[in-house]
Amino acid sequence: MTHHKVILDLDPGIDDSLALILAVMATPFEILGVSIVSGNVDSDQGARNATYVLDFLNQHQIPIIKGADRPLVIPYQDARDTHGQDGLSNQIFASEDRSCDQDVLSFYRSAVDHFPQSISLLALGPLTNLAQVAQADPGLLSRFKEIRIMGGVHTVQGNCSPVGEYNFWCDPHAAQLFFDQADLPPTYLYTLDVTYSILMTPNLREYIHQLRRPLAQFVWTITQFYVDFHWQAERTLGCVINDPLVVADLLEPMVTFKPAHVTIQTQGDCRGQSCVTYQP
Ligand code: BDR
Ligand code: CA
Repeated sequence: MTHHKVILDLDPGIDDSLALILAVMATPFEILGVSIVSGNVDSDQGARNATYVLDFLNQHQIPIIKGADRPLVIPYQDARDTHGQDGLSNQIFASEDRSCDQDVLSFYRSAVDHFPQSISLLALGPLTNLAQVAQADPGLLSRFKEIRIMGGVHTVQGNCSPVGEYNFWCDPHAAQLFFDQADLPPTYLYTLDVTYSILMTPNLREYIHQLRRPLAQFVWTITQFYVDFHWQAERTLGCVINDPLVVADLLEPMVTFKPAHVTIQTQGDCRGQSCVTYQP
């Protein structure tokens, strides 16, 4: 089984927390750290939520690094309408923050110094942290083995506007700056086109509930708001859980990729739109 060194860049958030749980439970993963970006909730609450999840899983040794508290250019808009006021279905209201006294740039730099071309960076929130790293140290991101991103939408309806997916919509300038980088390692983009098919069905959720184990109970509890949101917003039963797909696909490849050039619209009605041009 392939061993993966990973760093997760998260805005936890319900599905980010599920992705983190999956990464911790998957034995071939060595999690070098979790960086936090403002997105679903602000980075302070995100760091508290990551602390809660990692402590719940007895993973006190995994460093949490707090990053950008707002988008590069435009005002910050959270997604508490989807994730709850606390980002975890209004069930946890985590209060402890054990993020370390380091910034994202120096954390990434020391990680790639130690393990050049060996780390998978999984970016599951707005790309603000990655863009700031690229601005401060062009070329640093190319020292990762690969970058896998949940973001964007190509042929289906967006979740913030007809063409806008939340992560790119929240900080379109960061996404644009990221994709403008000349020097990137292999980069994989998981758009809503594919993550929409990752549905936690009512049956599966009920099965999780019936397991009556603490972790299963936790997953059941923090998905409640998501379920209610999906019902209210689109009359769907169950909930779409985008972010864990990136972790699952690294674990057990199941998504097919096509080479493409991506640009991002930064303003107007098309804010956050990912324009995908396939390449031969
Ligand atoms: C993405 O936005 C967030 O709400 C989710 O955590 C996911 O990363 C889906 O558009
Ligand atoms: Ca996310």
